[in-house]
Amino acid sequence: MKLVVFETKSEIAKLVSTIIIETIKENQKLVLGLATGSSPIDTYDLLIKDYQKNHTDWSQVTTFNLDEYVGLAPEHKKSYRYFMNEQLFNKINIKKENTYVPNGLGNVTANAQAYEKLLVEKGPINLQILGIGTNGHIAFNEPGTSGDSKTHVVDLTTATIEANKRFFASVKDVPTKAITMGVDSILQAQAIILIADGQAKAQAIYELVHGKITPDYPCSYLQAHDNVMVIIDSAAASLLKPPTIQPKN
Ligand code: F6R
Repeated sequence: MKLVVFETKSEIAKLVSTIIIETIKENQKLVLGLATGSSPIDTYDLLIKDYQKNHTDWSQVTTFNLDEYVGLAPEHKKSYRYFMNEQLFNKINIKKENTYVPNGLGNVTANAQAYEKLLVEKGPINLQILGIGTNGHIAFNEPGTSGDSKTHVVDLTTATIEANKRFFASVKDVPTKAITMGVDSILQAQAIILIADGQAKAQAIYELVHGKITPDYPCSYLQAHDNVMVIIDSAAASLLKPPTIQPKN
């Protein structure tokens, strides 16, 4: 696991957007895994600015989003499909039909299975961008999720509902279920970049880097992957052990 710690959130976005742009230049048919939430917004802003200035070509890129709330239609302003359209897809030349977000309406169990099938057909994801919950969730794999989980329907924990109420008018409006790529679906990605900022993420980052691999902190499963880069700010890194100092001889 490679760890990069910056002083500011904007430096995280600069590095992650640069990596994404360079990766598209190397592989026009990139399969890119994307997250929603507040963590990647600055990165998406920089990708849009780059598209406007440098015309990076997204026309052959395919994207897979990690998750979607159950019960929210794509047109719903709080749905993750709407978020992605607004924050990125509508502002670059990606083909909408090449952007996949789980379908939170109808038979969601069948939708989850269909999404997993699609991931296998179109995948593997070459590069996956991940955020992390204060409770150590990745995508919506909440504490207790098994390491071999595929895309599935989850009950969101009170901690996640509380953390996400800031996006809704009130806590009562936050959906209580979601469809999420599973831990194993995520670990199939060839490369993973996890981003986090702020003190609230410090414990989860500690468990990700130093903790034992346990369902109690689903982020810890990432230790089993051989190509993970963790890019965080100093507040999120504040509980990490200082690097081991090599004795001079
Ligand atoms: C969102 C997702 C979640 C978020 C996490 C952090 O697609 O998969 O795991 O990455 O809840 O959210 P923010 O970035 O809002 O702190």
